[in-house]
Amino acid sequence: MQQTYFMIKPEIVAAGDQKVGAILSIVNASGFRVTGLEMRQLDRPLVEDFYGEHRERPFFGDLVEYITSGPVVCIRLEREDAVSRLRELIGATNPAEAATGTIRFLYGESLSNNAVHASANTEDAARELDLIFG
Ligand code: CMP
Repeated sequence: MQQTYFMIKPEIVAAGDQKVGAILSIVNASGFRVTGLEMRQLDRPLVEDFYGEHRERPFFGDLVEYITSGPVVCIRLEREDAVSRLRELIGATNPAEAATGTIRFLYGESLSNNAVHASANTEDAARELDLIFG
């Protein structure tokens, strides 16, 4: 069993429980078990640390602004090959390039408002879970 970090981003949470519920249903139907879940308003230092690998990228300021703009849903997930299977399930970073039926295909609006985040690899999963859940 492997763990990964999954996050439902502010524009989905702001849109209401129905979208959050629909996304959690997709994840659950794909064999993931929720082992931690919390709706949280993340603060700026935490988000800067979380997305630290993007610090030098031109979109970093907007990314931090956006993720701190409202509550997110922070989720710890578990299943076999959780990291790669969740990345498959959410689709490409840019929703316009996401495969049909993936979460970003269904719920993403744009590259910056792409509905959800999932850890990119097992090292990131461990780091992100530690940052968010301690
Ligand atoms: P996420 O998987 O959460 O990881 C970093 C986020 O930065 C990414 O999803 C996008 O929402 C956001 N982002 C904004 N602009 C870009 C870009 N040009 N390239 C990659 N990610 C971007």
